[in-house]
Amino acid sequence: MNDRELDIFLEYLKQNQGCDLTVYKHSTLQRRLGVRMGQIGIDNYSAYLDYLKHRPNELPILLDTIFINFTGFFRDTDAWEYLAKEVIPKILNRKKAHEPIRIWSASCASGEEAYTLALLLVEALGIEQYLLQVQIYATDVDEAALRQARQHCYTNAQVASVPPALLNKYFELTSQGYVFNPTLRRRVIFARHNLLEDAPISKLDLLVCRNTLMYFNHDAQVKTLVRFHFALKNLGFIFLGKAETLVSRSCLFTPVSVKHRIFSKGANLESNDILLLSNKNVQSNIDLFTDSKGFWQSAFETSPIAQLIVTPNSKLIGANKSVRTLLNISVKDLGYSLQKLPLFIQLGELNFQVEQTLQNRSPVTLKNAQWSTDGIVYELNIDIVAISDYQGRFLGASITLSNVTP
Ligand SMILES: C[S@@+](CC[C@H](N)C(=O)[O-])C[C@H]1O[C@@H](n2cnc3c(N)ncnc32)[C@H](O)[C@@H]1O
Repeated sequence: MNDRELDIFLEYLKQNQGCDLTVYKHSTLQRRLGVRMGQIGIDNYSAYLDYLKHRPNELPILLDTIFINFTGFFRDTDAWEYLAKEVIPKILNRKKAHEPIRIWSASCASGEEAYTLALLLVEALGIEQYLLQVQIYATDVDEAALRQARQHCYTNAQVASVPPALLNKYFELTSQGYVFNPTLRRRVIFARHNLLEDAPISKLDLLVCRNTLMYFNHDAQVKTLVRFHFALKNLGFIFLGKAETLVSRSCLFTPVSVKHRIFSKGANLESNDILLLSNKNVQSNIDLFTDSKGFWQSAFETSPIAQLIVTPNSKLIGANKSVRTLLNISVKDLGYSLQKLPLFIQLGELNFQVEQTLQNRSPVTLKNAQWSTDGIVYELNIDIVAISDYQGRFLGASITLSNVTP
């Protein structure tokens, strides 16, 4: 069965059933469709499309097969242990006793992930504070999975991964199964939400989206991660699944534990991240997940404008090719004090002006500064500008030199 037939099948669902599966990875779709078609003895997409057109009940069955609902309490135990020990205390430390703690389990399947979060929070806060502060939003695209989640009742096998002490404390064994404590359950709100279509829940302290992005194609993953970035409070945490690697290559989030796929909404956005977040029109032209550092470094290195970059304490940390040629210096000068460069030894006033800019952040221009080397006298226009990142953190100064020798 070829990709073309699959595309026709997916296009039909999109146009006629309002169901857009085109953003899921083809390999996953092929596998899952194969499973469903095998169950009903069909071996090609066009015959299956025909089958589906004549049976209104088929689409939910197919979606059930595609939205693999596999989940569990404390799935990947060591990652949850890390979250409990290293992340939740940080969230709580930032909160006053009356401030809400907002958590989103985005793609919660049958609810085990959301209740795992409730267990960790109630253990960390005690019941009273938990009921006062915690709000867990738990969403999924799959209504059938949500129905199970809302019932908060699990089988023996399902609760096998809950630590016995927690099981005793927060579950009641009934004839139906293990019922999660109804009072704690009140702080977990379940709702249908499609990550690819619906607006994200906002102002989050912690966003958990595990084992779901990996089914999306690259573009859909990028779009979802950008939405997640908006959804989080500054310094909020995001907890992804083991197989979700794309985020590690992005600068959108700061790694907290790469091993456990825990990141925070940090302050280290790079220029192309900012472009992507701020300007819809350029989004499609920019791949957020390319190695942006390399890109900007080579732009700096090859610029025809001679430029030096210094830290707030006057250490030279950048000198592009044009300036190295003009001043006859090399990359070996990087890391040392600016005052060691011959230009700065000769021009005392230039030293003074750089210090001034580093102190008071105001830009300075020196016109026709004279500098002699190897018996040649150069005239330079020199601009010194303080530089900060987009959040206003002071980084140092940029010094650009134009050779205006007549
Ligand atoms: C493998 S389960 C993961 C459940 C849980 N997060 C975990 O890690 O154990 C994937 C879940 O993603 C949900 N899902 C798939 N596509 C989705 C979408 N576009 N929006 C929201 N949920 C989606 C599925 O319904 C399914 O419940």
